[in-house]
Amino acid sequence: GAPHLARRDADLWLDGVRLADLATEFGTPLYAYSRSAMREAAAAYQRALAGRPHLLCYAMKANSSLAVLKTFADLGLGFDIVSAGELARVIAAGGDPAKVVFSGVGKRPDEMRTALQAGVHCFNVESAAELETLSAVASSMGKTAAISLRVNPDVDAQTHPYISTGLKGNKFGVAHDEARAVYRRAASLPGIHVAGIDCHIGSQITTVAPYLDALDRLLDLVEQVEADGIPIAHLDMGGGLGITYTDETPPAADLLVGQLLARIDARGHGHRTVLMEPGRSLVGNAGVLLTEALVLKPGRVDDGGKNFCIVDAAMNDMVRPAMYEAWLAIVPCHQRAEPPLTWDVVGPVCESGDWLGRDRALAVQTGDVLAVLSAGAYGMAMASNYNTRPRAAEVMVDNGRATLIRRRETVADLFRDELIPG
Ligand code: LLP
Repeated sequence: GAPHLARRDADLWLDGVRLADLATEFGTPLYAYSRSAMREAAAAYQRALAGRPHLLCYAMKANSSLAVLKTFADLGLGFDIVSAGELARVIAAGGDPAKVVFSGVGKRPDEMRTALQAGVHCFNVESAAELETLSAVASSMGKTAAISLRVNPDVDAQTHPYISTGLKGNKFGVAHDEARAVYRRAASLPGIHVAGIDCHIGSQITTVAPYLDALDRLLDLVEQVEADGIPIAHLDMGGGLGITYTDETPPAADLLVGQLLARIDARGHGHRTVLMEPGRSLVGNAGVLLTEALVLKPGRVDDGGKNFCIVDAAMNDMVRPAMYEAWLAIVPCHQRAEPPLTWDVVGPVCESGDWLGRDRALAVQTGDVLAVLSAGAYGMAMASNYNTRPRAAEVMVDNGRATLIRRRETVADLFRDELIPG
């Protein structure tokens, strides 16, 4: 899973930094990311895409901290955004708006205006209605919006049941059998330039097959649309490549991209620019969440017998277990010699759903620091202030050095914008 994580003797290290030392220096809960792990994850995509026109757009919803964005901007990556807020982050981090694609089912007209003003590369349009609005907004500004249609390829759910966003009957994208007509409409509208086609079939995908199925469906459509006299310059295959949380064996990014390019070439589409929008696979295994054991509540036999280890990180810091029953590895930063017990690792929030891991074998004592692994994606980005809990601090680790990249929120921050009516 995590390339820059290693246990030396009893201690867990991330990219040359002892995690227990990070917790002492910066406090907990704390997110820590390995910059080299992020760079290497991006390099795998870039290796495979080298030598052909491409744009690799980091789906920043996975982790939108400015220092993370800067890391990818420095490598020449663009960004997949879903709001004007994300665009503002790209600009604040020094990213290039001309390398931004704007996805999302519900773009507001003012967000379209902001994106057009900034000069984004492309709007990934998700409905016929959005196309009309975008045409009106762009025309009113005397601008032209480059668009691709996000097509819902309706990849067979029987074969690939884990794909959730590329099936008929969800809110994403334009149905495959309607896309040709929507392209014709797009080509006729003022303020619209048809640039490409795109799809995103789901997240945490661990095999290549559904990507190839979706690609075939996309290329079928491209051939029809071009037969209508509408050129399609780019193919955007979305994101979705999974990572190893426990025993998943997703394809390496370069292998996935290699197979996609081979299929594109075999079908005679090799001249098109290729876009991708990976999120999780660029940051997920680069990050850990450090948390301290606050209270141990050993189970009573007459009460179900569960042992609870209550830690200082909660569902507001990392919602994936509560929200998706996601499994994240939880390991001690300093290994104890005693034999492990079985613990439910839970947070202090007043919800039974506030758990980080269930039935985990751990030798843990109060005050110990635990690391929640594979926490770099959809961790901090989904954090909230539930229970008036300030959000965690974040550090970037680079070759033995840790740098604070987000100060811990203060309680005063939390109600700074609130007003009490007289
Ligand atoms: N492109 C589009 C249009 C997307 O909607 C997404 C993610 C991505 C790219 C990036 O997908 P990735 O490579 O990260 O799988 N919060 C959930 C994941 C939600 C993904 C939403 N869309 C989780 O924690 O598992």
